Amino acid sequence: MIYERAADIVLDDVFLHLPGFVDDARVFLKLEGLNPAGSVKLKTALALVEDAEKSGALRPGSRVIESSSGNLGVALAVVCAAKGYPLTVVSDPHATRQSIRMMESLGAEVVEVTQRDANGGYLQTRIEHIRRRLTEQADLVWLNQYANPANASAHRDWTARALHEGLGHIDALFIGAGTTGTLMGCVEYFARHSPHTRIIAVDSVGSVTFGRAAPRFIPGLGSSRRPEIYRDTGAFDKVLIEEADAITMCRLVAARYGLLPGGSTGTVLAAVRQLGPALPSGARIAAISPDMGDKYLDTVYSDPWVADRYTEYAELASLDTTLSAR
Ligand SMILES: Cc1ncc(COP(=O)(O)O)c(C=O)c1O
Repeated sequence: MIYERAADIVLDDVFLHLPGFVDDARVFLKLEGLNPAGSVKLKTALALVEDAEKSGALRPGSRVIESSSGNLGVALAVVCAAKGYPLTVVSDPHATRQSIRMMESLGAEVVEVTQRDANGGYLQTRIEHIRRRLTEQADLVWLNQYANPANASAHRDWTARALHEGLGHIDALFIGAGTTGTLMGCVEYFARHSPHTRIIAVDSVGSVTFGRAAPRFIPGLGSSRRPEIYRDTGAFDKVLIEEADAITMCRLVAARYGLLPGGSTGTVLAAVRQLGPALPSGARIAAISPDMGDKYLDTVYSDPWVADRYTEYAELASLDTTLSAR
């Protein structure tokens, strides 16, 4: 297949079957990390930029600004490079070195804020920085993924449709919640086209979207401020996963299936392992894998990094036993 722009290589139809992941069920992982931006956020970035163009807010000569701890920033850098818009990404110490280097190499300016907000995260500080810049620079356009409906509609029109068309009948769909764009888009699509599909929203312990603020270290999932696009419609279940369990799951999937998943994929799969056995026998389960693990080699996949942050993390030692018992 020949594409005219790297940003159009979305690859929305790649699924990996995980045999034996949950007894008496079939588990399919939708791999979102294989496109040129390396994450589900390529679709979000395309939708945010094209929506701003359509509304007339974004014009030739405008500069785009956005808050991102990594994946959206990289995806916007891919899209803005292709379309010729200069880009500023406001990031924080949770972003991986590799993501920052990728954004910069794709031509973006990256600003790192370092002061924690009242919830212990950086999101509020990043947003205050953007608001200040907007008052100083007239040609700056803030896409605001946390409040922009185009974030959710990207996943309603692409991610959810691709799941439904690619997998057919789905009994349960597990989705990680960051900005909740993927979640809200899938909730809307499945309510209309496959209402029997049970949707399970997965967040990290310490994120304020479903729970209470506490320190978190894995970027991507969770938020220190409830996103404006999030609506608790009652149409989905919610589950909170400890970061240590997400790390265990990442390592298990890498060793058992030869797929190196990103941190939030581990979070989502930990929820599948927790709730999957209670689903009816023969259930078809889908889970969204937002990115791959190469960005997390120095964090999720680093023993010293894990030992420094998760005193309760003891699963590493028992991983071999867990695998051989399967
Ligand atoms: C690695 C990773 N996982 C999960 C998510 C959550 O996706 P969403 O923002 O659509 O809720 C993101 C979003 O940035 C992400 O980068």
